[in-house]
Amino acid sequence: MSHEWWRTAAIYQVYPRSFADGNGDGIGDLAGIADRLPYLRALGVDAIWFSPWYPSPMADAGYDIADHRDIDPAFGTLSQAEELIARAHALDLRIIVDVVPNHCSDRHPWFREAVAAAPGSAARELFWIRDGRGPDGDLPPNNWRSIFGGPAWTRLPDGQWYLHLFAPEQPDLNWGNPKVREEFEDILRFWFDRGVDGVRIDSASVVAKDPGLADFDPEAPPSPHPYDDRDEVHDIYRAWRAVADGYPRRRALIGEVWLPDPVRFARYLSPDELHTAFNFDFLGCAWEAGALRRCIDATLATHAPVGAPATWVLANHDVTRTVTRYGRTDTTFDHAGRRLRHGSPSDLALGTRRARAAALLSLALPGSVYLYQGEELGLWEVEDLPDALRQDPIFSRTGGADPGRDGCRVPLPWSGQQPPFGFSPHGATGRPWLPQPDAWRDLTVQAQDGAPGSMLELYRAALRLRRQLSGPGAGALRWLDAPREVLAFIRGDDVACVVNLSAAPVRLPEHRAVVLASGPLDGDRLPTDTSVWLRVPGLPTGD
Ligand code: NOJ
Ligand code: CA
Repeated sequence: MSHEWWRTAAIYQVYPRSFADGNGDGIGDLAGIADRLPYLRALGVDAIWFSPWYPSPMADAGYDIADHRDIDPAFGTLSQAEELIARAHALDLRIIVDVVPNHCSDRHPWFREAVAAAPGSAARELFWIRDGRGPDGDLPPNNWRSIFGGPAWTRLPDGQWYLHLFAPEQPDLNWGNPKVREEFEDILRFWFDRGVDGVRIDSASVVAKDPGLADFDPEAPPSPHPYDDRDEVHDIYRAWRAVADGYPRRRALIGEVWLPDPVRFARYLSPDELHTAFNFDFLGCAWEAGALRRCIDATLATHAPVGAPATWVLANHDVTRTVTRYGRTDTTFDHAGRRLRHGSPSDLALGTRRARAAALLSLALPGSVYLYQGEELGLWEVEDLPDALRQDPIFSRTGGADPGRDGCRVPLPWSGQQPPFGFSPHGATGRPWLPQPDAWRDLTVQAQDGAPGSMLELYRAALRLRRQLSGPGAGALRWLDAPREVLAFIRGDDVACVVNLSAAPVRLPEHRAVVLASGPLDGDRLPTDTSVWLRVPGLPTGD
Protein backbone atom coordinates (compact mmCIF):
# COMPACT_ATOMS: atom_id res chain seq x y z
CA MET A 1 0.00 0.00 0.00
CA SER A 2 1.11 3.55 -0.56
CA HIS A 3 2.38 5.60 2.36
CA GLU A 4 -1.01 7.33 2.32
CA TRP A 5 -2.59 4.00 3.12
CA TRP A 6 -5.72 5.51 4.71
CA ARG A 7 -6.85 6.83 1.33
CA THR A 8 -8.00 3.45 0.05
CA ALA A 9 -7.65 1.08 3.01
CA ALA A 10 -10.25 -1.46 4.10
CA ILE A 11 -10.27 -1.05 7.87
CA TYR A 12 -11.70 -3.69 10.18
CA GLN A 13 -13.08 -2.58 13.54
CA VAL A 14 -12.29 -4.92 16.40
CA TYR A 15 -14.42 -4.50 19.49
CA PRO A 16 -11.98 -6.24 21.84
CA ARG A 17 -14.56 -7.40 24.36
CA SER A 18 -16.44 -9.37 21.73
CA PHE A 19 -13.88 -10.51 19.18
CA ALA A 20 -12.18 -13.59 20.68
CA ASP A 21 -11.53 -14.73 24.23
CA GLY A 22 -8.08 -16.27 24.75
CA ASN A 23 -8.22 -17.13 28.45
CA GLY A 24 -11.76 -18.45 28.77
CA ASP A 25 -13.32 -15.87 31.08
CA GLY A 26 -16.00 -14.98 28.54
CA ILE A 27 -14.49 -11.60 27.66
CA GLY A 28 -12.57 -11.04 24.47
CA ASP A 29 -8.89 -10.18 24.91
CA LEU A 30 -5.59 -9.52 23.18
CA ALA A 31 -4.53 -13.16 23.29
CA GLY A 32 -7.72 -14.01 21.41
CA ILE A 33 -7.06 -11.27 18.87
CA ALA A 34 -3.44 -12.36 18.39
CA ASP A 35 -4.65 -15.87 17.55
CA ARG A 36 -7.01 -14.52 14.92
CA LEU A 37 -4.69 -12.13 13.12
CA PRO A 38 -4.24 -14.69 10.33
CA TYR A 39 -8.03 -14.70 9.94
CA LEU A 40 -7.98 -10.94 9.38
CA ARG A 41 -5.03 -11.23 7.02
CA ALA A 42 -6.88 -13.86 5.00
CA LEU A 43 -10.06 -11.77 5.02
CA GLY A 44 -8.09 -9.19 3.08
CA VAL A 45 -8.33 -6.05 5.19
CA ASP A 46 -5.49 -3.54 5.38
CA ALA A 47 -5.85 -2.21 8.88
CA ILE A 48 -7.45 -2.93 12.24
CA TRP A 49 -9.07 -0.31 14.44
CA PHE A 50 -9.31 -1.31 18.08
CA SER A 51 -12.10 0.15 20.15
CA PRO A 52 -10.64 1.17 23.54
CA TRP A 53 -8.46 -1.41 25.22
CA TYR A 54 -7.23 0.75 28.10
CA PRO A 55 -7.77 0.26 31.84
CA SER A 56 -11.36 1.21 32.48
CA PRO A 57 -14.16 0.55 34.95
CA MET A 58 -16.21 -0.18 31.80
CA ALA A 59 -19.09 2.13 32.62
CA ASP A 60 -19.25 2.74 28.85
CA ALA A 61 -17.50 -0.38 27.57
CA GLY A 62 -14.04 1.16 27.77
CA TYR A 63 -14.91 4.64 26.47
CA ASP A 64 -14.37 5.68 30.10
CA ILE A 65 -10.58 5.54 30.29
CA ALA A 66 -8.73 5.46 33.60
CA ASP A 67 -5.21 5.20 32.15
CA HIS A 68 -4.43 6.07 28.55
CA ARG A 69 -1.03 4.40 28.55
CA ASP A 70 -1.84 0.84 29.53
CA ILE A 71 -4.14 -2.08 28.72
CA ASP A 72 -7.09 -3.20 30.82
CA PRO A 73 -6.15 -6.40 32.71
CA ALA A 74 -9.29 -8.06 31.33
CA PHE A 75 -7.78 -7.61 27.86
CA GLY A 76 -4.10 -8.26 28.64
CA THR A 77 -0.94 -6.27 29.14
CA LEU A 78 0.92 -3.46 27.44
CA SER A 79 3.63 -5.82 26.29
CA GLN A 80 0.95 -8.02 24.69
CA ALA A 81 -0.34 -4.95 22.87
CA GLU A 82 3.17 -4.15 21.67
CA GLU A 83 3.60 -7.68 20.47
CA LEU A 84 0.22 -7.58 18.74
CA ILE A 85 1.21 -4.40 16.89
CA ALA A 86 4.47 -6.01 15.79
CA ARG A 87 2.71 -9.20 14.66
CA ALA A 88 0.10 -7.22 12.76
CA HIS A 89 2.81 -5.22 11.03
CA ALA A 90 4.58 -8.42 10.08
CA LEU A 91 1.33 -9.42 8.33
CA ASP A 92 1.17 -6.00 6.65
CA LEU A 93 -1.83 -4.98 8.76
CA ARG A 94 -1.88 -1.45 10.08
CA ILE A 95 -3.10 -0.58 13.56
CA ILE A 96 -5.45 2.18 14.64
CA VAL A 97 -6.22 2.86 18.29
CA ASP A 98 -9.12 4.76 19.77
CA VAL A 99 -8.35 8.06 21.48
CA VAL A 100 -11.09 9.59 23.61
CA PRO A 101 -10.39 13.28 24.21
CA ASN A 102 -13.77 14.55 25.38
CA HIS A 103 -13.82 12.77 28.71
CA CYS A 104 -12.03 10.28 30.89
CA SER A 105 -13.21 7.88 33.56
CA ASP A 106 -14.30 9.14 36.94
CA ARG A 107 -11.62 6.72 38.21
CA HIS A 108 -8.86 8.51 36.27
CA PRO A 109 -6.31 9.95 38.76
CA TRP A 110 -7.03 13.47 37.51
CA PHE A 111 -10.70 13.23 38.38
CA ARG A 112 -10.05 11.58 41.72
CA GLU A 113 -7.70 14.44 42.55
CA ALA A 114 -10.23 16.98 41.36
CA VAL A 115 -12.92 15.49 43.58
CA ALA A 116 -10.58 15.50 46.57
CA ALA A 117 -9.40 19.06 45.88
CA ALA A 118 -11.13 22.27 46.95
CA PRO A 119 -13.48 24.27 44.71
CA GLY A 120 -11.46 26.63 42.55
CA SER A 121 -8.30 24.49 42.76
CA ALA A 122 -6.07 23.79 39.76
CA ALA A 123 -7.09 20.11 39.89
CA ARG A 124 -10.72 21.07 39.30
CA GLU A 125 -9.74 23.28 36.38
CA LEU A 126 -8.99 20.19 34.29
CA PHE A 127 -12.74 19.46 34.21
CA TRP A 128 -15.92 21.50 34.06
CA ILE A 129 -16.76 21.83 37.73
CA ARG A 130 -19.07 24.61 38.81
CA ASP A 131 -21.41 25.77 41.52
CA GLY A 132 -25.04 24.94 40.97
CA ARG A 133 -27.89 27.32 40.47
CA GLY A 134 -30.71 28.19 42.84
CA PRO A 135 -30.40 29.56 46.38
CA ASP A 136 -28.73 26.36 47.64
CA GLY A 137 -26.88 25.56 44.45
CA ASP A 138 -28.87 22.38 44.16
CA LEU A 139 -29.85 22.94 40.55
CA PRO A 140 -27.36 22.00 37.83
CA PRO A 141 -25.29 24.87 36.41
CA ASN A 142 -27.21 24.78 33.14
CA ASN A 143 -29.87 22.87 31.21
CA TRP A 144 -27.59 20.63 29.13
CA ARG A 145 -28.70 17.02 28.72
CA SER A 146 -26.45 13.99 28.53
CA ILE A 147 -26.25 12.38 25.10
CA PHE A 148 -27.01 9.12 26.92
CA GLY A 149 -30.13 10.56 28.59
CA GLY A 150 -30.67 12.45 31.84
CA PRO A 151 -28.94 15.64 32.94
CA ALA A 152 -25.37 16.37 31.84
CA TRP A 153 -24.37 17.35 35.38
CA THR A 154 -23.75 15.33 38.53
CA ARG A 155 -23.22 16.78 41.98
CA LEU A 156 -20.06 16.19 43.97
CA PRO A 157 -20.18 15.54 47.74
CA ASP A 158 -19.13 19.12 48.46
CA GLY A 159 -22.03 20.53 46.46
CA GLN A 160 -20.31 21.56 43.22
CA TRP A 161 -21.36 19.93 39.94
CA TYR A 162 -19.33 18.40 37.13
CA LEU A 163 -20.21 18.18 33.45
CA HIS A 164 -20.53 14.88 31.57
CA LEU A 165 -21.95 14.93 28.07
CA PHE A 166 -22.10 11.12 28.29
CA ALA A 167 -22.42 8.96 31.45
CA PRO A 168 -21.70 10.39 34.93
CA GLU A 169 -18.67 8.07 34.99
CA GLN A 170 -17.27 10.07 32.03
CA PRO A 171 -16.43 13.59 33.25
CA ASP A 172 -15.71 16.04 30.42
CA LEU A 173 -12.18 17.40 30.23
CA ASN A 174 -11.60 21.13 29.99
CA TRP A 175 -9.80 21.64 26.69
CA GLY A 176 -9.36 25.30 27.50
CA ASN A 177 -6.64 24.12 29.88
CA PRO A 178 -3.15 23.75 28.36
CA LYS A 179 -2.39 20.78 30.61
CA VAL A 180 -5.16 18.78 28.93
CA ARG A 181 -3.74 19.61 25.51
CA GLU A 182 -0.21 18.63 26.49
CA GLU A 183 -1.40 15.40 28.04
CA PHE A 184 -3.20 14.25 24.91
CA GLU A 185 -0.37 15.18 22.59
CA ASP A 186 1.80 13.06 24.82
CA ILE A 187 -0.70 10.19 24.69
CA LEU A 188 -0.60 10.35 20.89
CA ARG A 189 3.20 10.14 20.98
CA PHE A 190 3.02 7.26 23.43
CA TRP A 191 1.06 5.14 20.94
CA PHE A 192 2.80 6.40 17.81
CA ASP A 193 6.11 5.51 19.49
CA ARG A 194 4.74 2.00 19.83
CA GLY A 195 4.18 1.81 16.11
CA VAL A 196 0.49 2.60 15.95
CA ASP A 197 -0.38 3.81 12.44
CA GLY A 198 -3.38 5.94 13.21
CA VAL A 199 -5.89 7.05 15.78
CA ARG A 200 -9.66 7.16 15.69
CA ILE A 201 -10.80 10.25 17.56
CA ASP A 202 -13.90 9.66 19.64
CA SER A 203 -16.68 12.28 19.67
CA ALA A 204 -14.26 14.61 17.92
CA SER A 205 -16.57 17.58 17.43
CA VAL A 206 -17.85 18.04 21.01
CA VAL A 207 -14.52 18.48 22.73
CA ALA A 208 -14.45 22.31 23.03
CA LYS A 209 -17.03 24.06 25.25
CA ASP A 210 -18.25 27.61 25.58
CA PRO A 211 -16.70 28.66 28.89
CA GLY A 212 -19.88 30.63 29.59
CA LEU A 213 -21.77 27.30 29.77
CA ALA A 214 -24.98 29.07 28.80
CA ASP A 215 -28.33 27.28 28.63
CA PHE A 216 -29.57 26.46 25.19
CA ASP A 217 -32.59 25.09 23.42
CA PRO A 218 -31.56 21.87 21.66
CA GLU A 219 -34.41 22.35 19.18
CA ALA A 220 -32.98 25.72 18.14
CA PRO A 221 -29.31 25.65 19.14
CA PRO A 222 -27.48 28.94 18.86
CA SER A 223 -24.59 29.40 16.51
CA PRO A 224 -21.94 28.85 17.67
CA HIS A 225 -23.25 25.85 19.58
CA PRO A 226 -22.13 25.81 23.23
CA TYR A 227 -20.30 22.50 22.80
CA ASP A 228 -20.66 21.02 19.32
CA ASP A 229 -18.39 21.95 16.44
CA ARG A 230 -16.94 25.06 18.00
CA ASP A 231 -14.16 26.78 16.11
CA GLU A 232 -11.65 26.21 18.93
CA VAL A 233 -11.71 22.49 18.26
CA HIS A 234 -9.77 22.98 15.06
CA ASP A 235 -6.73 24.32 16.93
CA ILE A 236 -6.64 21.08 18.86
CA TYR A 237 -6.57 18.92 15.74
CA ARG A 238 -4.05 21.15 13.99
CA ALA A 239 -1.74 20.52 16.93
CA TRP A 240 -2.46 16.76 16.69
CA ARG A 241 -1.67 16.84 12.99
CA ALA A 242 1.70 18.41 13.77
CA VAL A 243 2.36 15.53 16.17
CA ALA A 244 1.35 12.93 13.55
CA ASP A 245 3.42 14.64 10.86
CA GLY A 246 6.44 14.53 13.13
CA TYR A 247 6.73 10.79 12.42
CA PRO A 248 8.56 9.64 9.32
CA ARG A 249 6.10 6.82 8.58
CA ARG A 250 2.79 8.63 8.09
CA ARG A 251 0.20 8.32 10.85
CA ALA A 252 -3.48 8.91 10.20
CA LEU A 253 -5.99 10.91 12.24
CA ILE A 254 -9.55 9.67 11.77
CA GLY A 255 -12.40 11.67 13.22
CA GLU A 256 -15.70 10.53 14.62
CA VAL A 257 -17.54 13.62 13.45
CA TRP A 258 -21.34 13.54 13.34
CA LEU A 259 -22.29 16.80 11.65
CA PRO A 260 -25.12 17.35 9.21
CA ASP A 261 -23.53 20.39 7.57
CA PRO A 262 -21.08 19.17 4.89
CA VAL A 263 -19.13 22.42 4.85
CA ARG A 264 -18.57 22.30 8.61
CA PHE A 265 -17.71 18.59 8.33
CA ALA A 266 -15.10 19.27 5.64
CA ARG A 267 -13.32 21.79 7.85
CA TYR A 268 -12.10 18.87 9.97
CA LEU A 269 -10.47 17.46 6.85
CA SER A 270 -8.44 20.54 5.97
CA PRO A 271 -4.92 19.58 4.88
CA ASP A 272 -3.52 20.58 8.27
CA GLU A 273 -6.12 18.69 10.35
CA LEU A 274 -7.60 15.19 10.20
CA HIS A 275 -6.87 12.82 7.35
CA THR A 276 -10.34 11.26 7.19
CA ALA A 277 -13.63 11.10 9.09
CA PHE A 278 -16.42 8.56 9.22
CA ASN A 279 -19.25 8.96 6.75
CA PHE A 280 -22.30 8.72 9.01
CA ASP A 281 -24.57 9.99 6.29
CA PHE A 282 -23.91 6.79 4.35
CA LEU A 283 -24.25 4.68 7.48
CA GLY A 284 -27.71 6.07 8.16
CA CYS A 285 -28.89 6.15 4.54
CA ALA A 286 -32.03 4.31 3.45
CA TRP A 287 -31.73 1.32 1.12
CA GLU A 288 -33.11 3.39 -1.69
CA ALA A 289 -31.41 4.26 -4.97
CA GLY A 290 -32.13 7.99 -4.99
CA ALA A 291 -31.08 8.49 -1.37
CA LEU A 292 -27.89 6.48 -1.86
CA ARG A 293 -26.95 8.31 -5.01
CA ARG A 294 -27.52 11.68 -3.37
CA CYS A 295 -25.43 10.56 -0.41
CA ILE A 296 -22.59 9.33 -2.63
CA ASP A 297 -22.58 12.49 -4.72
CA ALA A 298 -22.75 14.73 -1.65
CA THR A 299 -19.93 12.78 -0.01
CA LEU A 300 -17.66 13.10 -3.01
CA ALA A 301 -18.51 16.79 -3.41
CA THR A 302 -17.75 17.44 0.26
CA HIS A 303 -14.38 15.73 0.17
CA ALA A 304 -13.09 16.94 -3.19
CA PRO A 305 -12.30 20.56 -2.28
CA VAL A 306 -10.18 19.55 0.72
CA GLY A 307 -8.49 16.66 -1.09
CA ALA A 308 -9.48 14.17 1.62
CA PRO A 309 -10.54 10.62 0.82
CA ALA A 310 -14.17 9.70 1.37
CA THR A 311 -14.99 6.89 3.79
CA TRP A 312 -17.79 4.33 3.50
CA VAL A 313 -19.22 2.87 6.67
CA LEU A 314 -22.20 0.56 7.01
CA ALA A 315 -21.92 -0.30 10.69
CA ASN A 316 -20.03 0.09 13.93
CA HIS A 317 -20.40 -0.72 17.62
CA ASP A 318 -22.94 2.07 18.15
CA VAL A 319 -25.54 1.23 15.52
CA THR A 320 -28.04 -1.45 14.55
CA ARG A 321 -26.47 -4.24 12.54
CA THR A 322 -27.02 -3.90 8.83
CA VAL A 323 -28.83 -7.20 8.30
CA THR A 324 -31.52 -6.17 10.78
CA ARG A 325 -31.75 -2.58 9.57
CA TYR A 326 -32.10 -3.50 5.90
CA GLY A 327 -34.73 -6.11 6.72
CA ARG A 328 -37.10 -3.48 8.07
CA THR A 329 -39.57 -1.25 6.30
CA ASP A 330 -37.63 1.78 7.52
CA THR A 331 -34.05 1.08 6.48
CA THR A 332 -32.49 4.27 7.84
CA PHE A 333 -30.50 4.55 11.06
CA ASP A 334 -30.32 7.40 13.51
CA HIS A 335 -29.65 7.31 17.22
CA ALA A 336 -32.85 9.09 18.17
CA GLY A 337 -34.88 6.53 16.23
CA ARG A 338 -33.31 3.41 17.75
CA ARG A 339 -35.90 3.12 20.49
CA LEU A 340 -38.76 3.38 17.99
CA ARG A 341 -37.38 0.84 15.54
CA HIS A 342 -36.21 -1.65 18.15
CA GLY A 343 -38.19 -4.84 17.86
CA SER A 344 -40.06 -3.73 14.75
CA PRO A 345 -40.28 -6.65 12.34
CA SER A 346 -37.20 -7.39 10.30
CA ASP A 347 -37.04 -9.89 7.46
CA LEU A 348 -33.52 -11.17 8.03
CA ALA A 349 -33.34 -13.00 4.70
CA LEU A 350 -34.18 -9.76 2.91
CA GLY A 351 -31.80 -7.83 5.18
CA THR A 352 -29.02 -10.29 4.40
CA ARG A 353 -29.58 -10.02 0.67
CA ARG A 354 -29.42 -6.26 0.88
CA ALA A 355 -26.41 -6.32 3.22
CA ARG A 356 -24.58 -8.41 0.63
CA ALA A 357 -25.49 -5.97 -2.10
CA ALA A 358 -24.49 -3.04 0.12
CA ALA A 359 -21.13 -4.67 0.79
CA LEU A 360 -20.29 -4.74 -2.92
CA LEU A 361 -21.55 -1.18 -3.27
CA SER A 362 -19.44 0.21 -0.44
CA LEU A 363 -16.37 -1.76 -1.46
CA ALA A 364 -16.61 -0.34 -4.97
CA LEU A 365 -16.72 3.31 -3.96
CA PRO A 366 -13.64 5.53 -4.05
CA GLY A 367 -11.93 6.01 -0.71
CA SER A 368 -11.48 3.91 2.40
CA VAL A 369 -14.03 1.52 3.79
CA TYR A 370 -14.78 0.36 7.33
CA LEU A 371 -16.06 -3.06 8.34
CA TYR A 372 -17.41 -3.73 11.79
CA GLN A 373 -16.54 -7.16 13.17
CA GLY A 374 -19.25 -9.68 12.38
CA GLU A 375 -20.43 -7.72 9.35
CA GLU A 376 -18.42 -10.15 7.23
CA LEU A 377 -20.39 -13.00 8.84
CA GLY A 378 -23.79 -11.41 8.25
CA LEU A 379 -24.59 -11.25 11.97
CA TRP A 380 -27.85 -9.62 12.88
CA GLU A 381 -28.71 -7.35 15.80
CA VAL A 382 -29.55 -9.43 18.86
CA GLU A 383 -32.71 -7.66 19.93
CA ASP A 384 -33.99 -10.09 22.54
CA LEU A 385 -31.17 -9.85 25.09
CA PRO A 386 -32.55 -10.14 28.63
CA ASP A 387 -32.72 -6.66 30.14
CA ALA A 388 -30.75 -7.83 33.17
CA LEU A 389 -27.77 -8.54 30.91
CA ARG A 390 -27.79 -5.24 29.05
CA GLN A 391 -24.72 -3.21 29.92
CA ASP A 392 -24.96 -0.13 27.76
CA PRO A 393 -25.51 2.97 29.94
CA ILE A 394 -27.99 4.21 27.33
CA PHE A 395 -30.35 1.45 28.44
CA SER A 396 -30.21 2.35 32.13
CA ARG A 397 -30.10 6.12 31.65
CA THR A 398 -33.24 6.10 29.52
CA GLY A 399 -35.04 3.84 31.99
CA GLY A 400 -35.04 1.09 29.37
CA ALA A 401 -36.81 3.23 26.76
CA ASP A 402 -33.79 2.96 24.48
CA PRO A 403 -32.39 -0.59 24.28
CA GLY A 404 -28.90 0.80 23.73
CA ARG A 405 -26.14 -0.81 21.72
CA ASP A 406 -25.55 -4.21 23.31
CA GLY A 407 -27.37 -5.96 20.47
CA CYS A 408 -24.55 -5.23 18.02
CA ARG A 409 -21.83 -6.13 20.54
CA VAL A 410 -22.58 -9.82 21.09
CA PRO A 411 -19.41 -11.99 20.95
CA LEU A 412 -18.50 -13.38 17.54
CA PRO A 413 -19.27 -16.99 16.60
CA TRP A 414 -16.16 -18.75 15.33
CA SER A 415 -16.89 -22.46 15.26
CA GLY A 416 -18.96 -25.33 16.58
CA GLN A 417 -22.62 -26.03 17.02
CA GLN A 418 -23.44 -24.25 20.25
CA PRO A 419 -22.42 -21.21 22.27
CA PRO A 420 -19.77 -20.01 22.89
CA PHE A 421 -19.13 -21.01 19.27
CA GLY A 422 -15.39 -21.00 19.74
CA PHE A 423 -15.42 -17.44 21.07
CA SER A 424 -13.87 -18.86 24.24
CA PRO A 425 -11.49 -21.81 24.16
CA HIS A 426 -12.66 -25.35 24.80
CA GLY A 427 -13.29 -25.95 28.50
CA ALA A 428 -13.70 -22.25 29.30
CA THR A 429 -15.13 -21.44 32.70
CA GLY A 430 -16.74 -18.13 31.74
CA ARG A 431 -19.74 -17.72 29.47
CA PRO A 432 -19.62 -15.03 26.77
CA TRP A 433 -20.38 -11.71 28.43
CA LEU A 434 -23.52 -11.46 26.29
CA PRO A 435 -25.35 -14.59 25.12
CA GLN A 436 -25.10 -15.58 21.46
CA PRO A 437 -28.20 -16.76 19.58
CA ASP A 438 -28.25 -20.54 18.93
CA ALA A 439 -29.04 -19.79 15.30
CA TRP A 440 -25.57 -18.31 14.87
CA ARG A 441 -24.38 -21.89 14.43
CA ASP A 442 -24.98 -21.31 10.73
CA LEU A 443 -22.99 -18.09 10.73
CA THR A 444 -19.77 -19.18 12.40
CA VAL A 445 -16.52 -18.61 10.57
CA GLN A 446 -16.13 -22.37 10.38
CA ALA A 447 -19.59 -22.83 8.84
CA GLN A 448 -18.93 -20.14 6.24
CA ASP A 449 -15.31 -20.91 5.48
CA GLY A 450 -15.11 -22.18 1.94
CA ALA A 451 -18.91 -22.32 1.63
CA PRO A 452 -19.89 -20.99 -1.78
CA GLY A 453 -22.32 -18.13 -1.42
CA SER A 454 -21.53 -17.41 2.23
CA MET A 455 -21.23 -13.83 3.42
CA LEU A 456 -17.67 -14.50 4.54
CA GLU A 457 -16.62 -15.76 1.12
CA LEU A 458 -18.31 -12.78 -0.51
CA TYR A 459 -16.31 -10.37 1.65
CA ARG A 460 -13.08 -12.29 1.07
CA ALA A 461 -13.56 -12.26 -2.69
CA ALA A 462 -14.58 -8.62 -2.76
CA LEU A 463 -11.65 -7.49 -0.63
CA ARG A 464 -9.22 -9.49 -2.75
CA LEU A 465 -10.60 -8.12 -5.99
CA ARG A 466 -10.74 -4.60 -4.58
CA ARG A 467 -6.95 -4.75 -4.27
CA GLN A 468 -6.39 -6.32 -7.65
CA LEU A 469 -8.74 -4.36 -9.84
CA SER A 470 -7.76 -0.96 -11.04
CA GLY A 471 -11.19 0.35 -10.12
CA PRO A 472 -12.70 -0.15 -6.68
CA GLY A 473 -11.01 1.87 -3.97
CA ALA A 474 -9.01 4.07 -6.34
CA GLY A 475 -9.73 6.34 -9.25
CA ALA A 476 -12.75 8.53 -9.88
CA LEU A 477 -16.37 7.45 -10.07
CA ARG A 478 -18.43 7.97 -13.21
CA TRP A 479 -22.17 7.33 -13.15
CA LEU A 480 -23.57 5.26 -16.01
CA ASP A 481 -27.04 5.59 -17.44
CA ALA A 482 -29.29 3.14 -15.64
CA PRO A 483 -32.96 2.34 -15.20
CA ARG A 484 -34.81 3.93 -12.30
CA GLU A 485 -33.91 2.53 -8.88
CA VAL A 486 -30.64 1.16 -10.24
CA LEU A 487 -27.21 2.49 -9.34
CA ALA A 488 -24.53 1.96 -11.96
CA PHE A 489 -21.08 3.48 -12.03
CA ILE A 490 -17.70 2.83 -13.45
CA ARG A 491 -14.46 2.89 -11.51
CA GLY A 492 -10.95 3.07 -12.82
CA ASP A 493 -10.53 1.85 -16.37
CA ASP A 494 -13.00 -0.92 -16.79
CA VAL A 495 -14.82 -2.00 -13.67
CA ALA A 496 -18.49 -1.22 -13.25
CA CYS A 497 -20.66 -1.72 -10.19
CA VAL A 498 -24.39 -2.12 -10.69
CA VAL A 499 -26.86 -2.28 -7.81
CA ASN A 500 -30.49 -3.13 -8.41
CA LEU A 501 -32.73 -1.54 -5.79
CA SER A 502 -35.84 -1.80 -7.95
CA ALA A 503 -38.59 -4.36 -7.47
CA ALA A 504 -37.85 -6.23 -10.71
CA PRO A 505 -34.78 -7.76 -12.34
CA VAL A 506 -32.91 -5.48 -14.75
CA ARG A 507 -30.78 -6.33 -17.77
CA LEU A 508 -27.04 -6.11 -17.12
CA PRO A 509 -25.23 -3.46 -19.12
CA GLU A 510 -22.89 -4.61 -21.87
CA HIS A 511 -19.92 -6.33 -20.24
CA ARG A 512 -16.98 -8.60 -20.91
CA ALA A 513 -17.16 -10.56 -17.71
CA VAL A 514 -18.95 -10.82 -14.42
CA VAL A 515 -16.30 -10.28 -11.78
CA LEU A 516 -18.39 -10.81 -8.66
CA ALA A 517 -22.06 -10.78 -7.74
CA SER A 518 -23.73 -10.50 -4.36
CA GLY A 519 -26.28 -13.16 -5.29
CA PRO A 520 -27.25 -15.44 -8.15
CA LEU A 521 -27.89 -13.71 -11.46
CA ASP A 522 -30.97 -14.46 -13.50
CA GLY A 523 -29.33 -15.12 -16.89
CA ASP A 524 -28.23 -11.71 -18.08
CA ARG A 525 -30.46 -10.02 -15.58
CA LEU A 526 -29.63 -8.63 -12.17
CA PRO A 527 -32.26 -9.56 -9.57
CA THR A 528 -33.70 -7.19 -7.00
CA ASP A 529 -31.43 -6.23 -4.09
CA THR A 530 -28.38 -7.62 -5.85
CA SER A 531 -25.09 -5.98 -6.82
CA VAL A 532 -22.58 -7.01 -9.42
CA TRP A 533 -19.07 -5.98 -10.41
CA LEU A 534 -18.52 -6.20 -14.15
CA ARG A 535 -15.60 -5.83 -16.48
CA VAL A 536 -16.86 -3.50 -19.12
CA PRO A 537 -15.55 -3.19 -22.68
CA GLY A 538 -13.58 -0.60 -24.52
CA LEU A 539 -10.58 -0.37 -22.27
CA PRO A 540 -7.69 -2.71 -21.43
CA THR A 541 -8.54 -5.54 -19.06
CA GLY A 542 -5.30 -5.32 -17.15
CA ASP A 543 -4.79 -9.07 -16.96
C1 NOJ B 1 -18.64 7.44 20.61
C2 NOJ B 1 -18.33 5.99 20.78
O1 NOJ B 1 -18.33 5.37 19.52
C3 NOJ B 1 -19.38 5.43 21.71
O2 NOJ B 1 -19.34 4.04 21.79
C4 NOJ B 1 -19.18 6.07 23.06
O3 NOJ B 1 -20.19 5.63 23.93
C5 NOJ B 1 -19.21 7.59 22.97
N1 NOJ B 1 -18.47 8.11 21.86
C6 NOJ B 1 -18.66 8.20 24.24
O4 NOJ B 1 -17.27 7.98 24.31
CA1 CA C 1 -10.73 -13.26 28.18
